[in-house]
Amino acid sequence: MDLSATHEVPASSSNNGALDYPTVEDYVGNTPLVRLQRLKTNPSNVILAKLEGNNPAGSVKDRPAVSMIAEAERKGIIKPGDTLIEATSGNTGIALAMAAAIRGYKLKLIMPANMSEERRAAMAAYGAELISVPAGKMELARDLAQELQARGVGVVLDQFGNQDNPLGHFKGTGPEVWEQTSGRITHFVSSMGTTGTIMGVSQYLKEKNPNIQIVGLQPSEGASIAGIRRWPKQYLPKIFQEERVDRVMEIGQREAEEAMRALAKVEGIFAGVSSGGAVSAALRLSAEVENATIVCIICDRGDRYLSTGVFSEEAAASDPQPCSVSEFPSAAARLVGLPEPHYILFTADPDPETGEPWCPDCARCLGAARSRVAAAGGTLLEVQVGQRPVWKDKGHPLRYHAALQLSGIPTLVRWQPDGTPGARLGAELEAASTPQEADQLIKDFVSSDLRFAAAAQDGSGVDVQALIQELDKASMSDGAVAH
Ligand SMILES: Cc1ncc(COP(=O)(O)O)c(C=O)c1O
Repeated sequence: MDLSATHEVPASSSNNGALDYPTVEDYVGNTPLVRLQRLKTNPSNVILAKLEGNNPAGSVKDRPAVSMIAEAERKGIIKPGDTLIEATSGNTGIALAMAAAIRGYKLKLIMPANMSEERRAAMAAYGAELISVPAGKMELARDLAQELQARGVGVVLDQFGNQDNPLGHFKGTGPEVWEQTSGRITHFVSSMGTTGTIMGVSQYLKEKNPNIQIVGLQPSEGASIAGIRRWPKQYLPKIFQEERVDRVMEIGQREAEEAMRALAKVEGIFAGVSSGGAVSAALRLSAEVENATIVCIICDRGDRYLSTGVFSEEAAASDPQPCSVSEFPSAAARLVGLPEPHYILFTADPDPETGEPWCPDCARCLGAARSRVAAAGGTLLEVQVGQRPVWKDKGHPLRYHAALQLSGIPTLVRWQPDGTPGARLGAELEAASTPQEADQLIKDFVSSDLRFAAAAQDGSGVDVQALIQELDKASMSDGAVAH
């Protein structure tokens, strides 16, 4: 099969000698690349989502599944009718089951018993034989696969060590994003499981333009995101080559899930949790750069996760959870899908004992802000800006919020689509000749016990850079910062 970026029908002979129709395999790859319209952090950048859930078996894994079987066949290692074996708990199992069905192979999939019912059912529907090992024992599944191969039962494809996994992306995903962006891509973001996607795409894109930044995504400490792993150095997949990844970003489970829900609600892209993570990473990245074309991989479709409850009303009702400073750009962008008016409150980190901010001003402000926003029927995003040392850092982008709070003026930033009264305040602040005057302007800009400062918004998405610049203009005196 042709793994390149075209869908041209192979020139095989057809039964009636007249027409060559494609097979399902011919529709693996060539997935759509779509522009995000509402989830943004910087209007000068474009974020593009590569919809891998549009592959026939529903995930990015269709590519390596077909590539590994086709290449093994080409090398004479396997032939139709043989038995293939793989230890897998996720999308690879479903993709291999499809590819084995298309090419006429038997397939034994070994997986932990706690695999979701819908996944098992999908693999079985494609005719795969499922072998269970005790829940959570993926290593045992791998050992068993090797043992079955040693006993001559079949051939293990081994997606973690098989170069034909990244090859599927080198020949397909890489050229597709290059062509679909007319070579304009500046950043590529992919979550990392076997790392096949990021390895293959990186190799292709770097050959085209070594300046393209390749950003890998891994779950943060303690996070569990299906399909991706935080690999300890000694367990990194054999196909992984460190030099092919310029930067690794860490995303928490809750952030990935919130982004996944927002993606469905405001972009119409129904995807899985690792895809939410990739979008979050793209949004964070977009807050740092200008005039960029960022491509992120949407690994699979959301319906594969329905039984886990991540799309339930109950799960959505708790959005947005308090976020960290590093998450702030993506959390602010996600507000677009939540009830208005939108408020953002910067607070100290919570005290581990009480769960409330360690700063008494913040705790007082938080209580008032929560009830005020609840009464308005709006959404409050709480941003935990850190502990005392962080607040004193003059280079910290949120230092002025912290400074305002420490000087006893809790700052509740209100987002308004038309940019007022934030725009008015911004203009006044620009005209202010001294930091003290700017400080006074903010102090005057009050409507109740909470002080409001509104941020600029361009109407299509939150412009975090503009917000920070605007607040920077409200320069505080050193005395106020040194609390
Ligand atoms: C849902 C999901 N996301 C991301 C990935 C990561 O892709 P890769 O294995 O190419 O790194 C996988 C891989 O199985 C996956 O199933």
